[in-house]
Amino acid sequence: MKFYTEEGNYDLVGNNTPVFFIRDTMKFPHFIRSQKRRGGSGLRDNHMQWDFWSLNPESAHQVTYLMGDRGIPKSYRHMNGYGSHTYMWVNAAGDKHWVKYHFHSDQGVEGLTDHDATRIAGEDADFHRRDLYEAIERGEFPSWTLSVQVMPYEEGKTYRLNPFDLTKVWPHGDYPLIEVGRMTLDRNPENFFAQIEQAAFEPSALVPGIGFSPDKMLLGRAFAYADTHRHRIGANYLQLPVNRPHVEVNTYTKDGPMAYDHTGDAPVYAPNSEGRGYADHVGEVEPGWEADGAMVRQAYTLRPDDDDFSQPGALVREVWDDQQRAAFVKTVAGHLLGGVKGDVLERAFLYWKAVDADTGAQIEKLVRAGADLGGPGGQPDAARDDASEPIVETDTNAG
Ligand code: HEM
Repeated sequence: MKFYTEEGNYDLVGNNTPVFFIRDTMKFPHFIRSQKRRGGSGLRDNHMQWDFWSLNPESAHQVTYLMGDRGIPKSYRHMNGYGSHTYMWVNAAGDKHWVKYHFHSDQGVEGLTDHDATRIAGEDADFHRRDLYEAIERGEFPSWTLSVQVMPYEEGKTYRLNPFDLTKVWPHGDYPLIEVGRMTLDRNPENFFAQIEQAAFEPSALVPGIGFSPDKMLLGRAFAYADTHRHRIGANYLQLPVNRPHVEVNTYTKDGPMAYDHTGDAPVYAPNSEGRGYADHVGEVEPGWEADGAMVRQAYTLRPDDDDFSQPGALVREVWDDQQRAAFVKTVAGHLLGGVKGDVLERAFLYWKAVDADTGAQIEKLVRAGADLGGPGGQPDAARDDASEPIVETDTNAG
């Protein structure tokens, strides 16, 4: 989302899940490659996906979510939106808080089964885009209720979960949702290229009063997106109508390909003695945390009472009902049977048993039966003796 505020643009670039696969920004390129295409065949490959996931157990929460009934939204209208990361808000008195954003669909949350999604993707690859466009054309404007969770700055140091760990949610019992507004989509683009293709969203676009947290993923994103925009759109992408702020822009950035705005012969440096100023307003106080070294250094480590499997385990056991669990077992088993083999398959069984012993065992049973029947997964290696050992946190930069 791009907010054209009176103090410049604020971009909130989130997605439809409250967590993510990893918490270390350095793993991101490896993660993305593992989900894309193999160097040799040029094909996507389940074995490669599970190789990465099973060597990075912090992915368990997101993968559980993805394989559950919210994993494939029925439409853009029927999914929630999350800022996912923890951000900083500074209020008028200069007090700092940690904040998480939740946009809950007023249409309700509904998903597609794997089977329906596969069919629809073949019939109409534009299904989601068409659904949203046509709903808005009909005057059925979809809306989302925005709530935030707010944690006082100091509590971030001692909360039992690392509040900057993108693979975790903050239980609502600890930090309740505070409703703050509603977002309604009430207009379609007039020109898709100018307003959608050329739009550039970047987590680095902040306004006074909003800052980053020590979440290392967010800090990595803070430079990755603008880099991409310079490559994808061009060096002066911020001068395009869809990307430029709706308030006066005063910048010392100048020239380059397709530069359109210019400032004549005004000084090109600051400070200067010709009266051209520069903005240094950051809000009531600097939205920083650098002075709290320990908190920053621990930003992507687990706290003593925390682990990678409790939250996905709670999702399976406490949030889902029997029907949802059964569908989940089928989805995971089907995915594993799609070519995951050998040690990687064995690690995947350990991974799911660590999330939930019972559903993990059901997944293993189904896959082994499928493999025995000559399923596409082939014959896995003989079951290892240590199959019931809990998987341990590894620090592997797989790939
Ligand atoms: C270290 C972690 C990440 C890196 C380095 C990264 C990098 C990128 C880059 C380079 C793009 C392409 C931008 C463009 O050309 O417009 C992109 C797109 C996107 N990313 Fe990420 N990403 C990361 C994690 C995430 C997370 C955690 C979320 C959601 C919470 C997310 C949501 C998105 C979305 C929604 C887009 C599409 C934006 C659009 O269509 O304009 N990314 N990401």
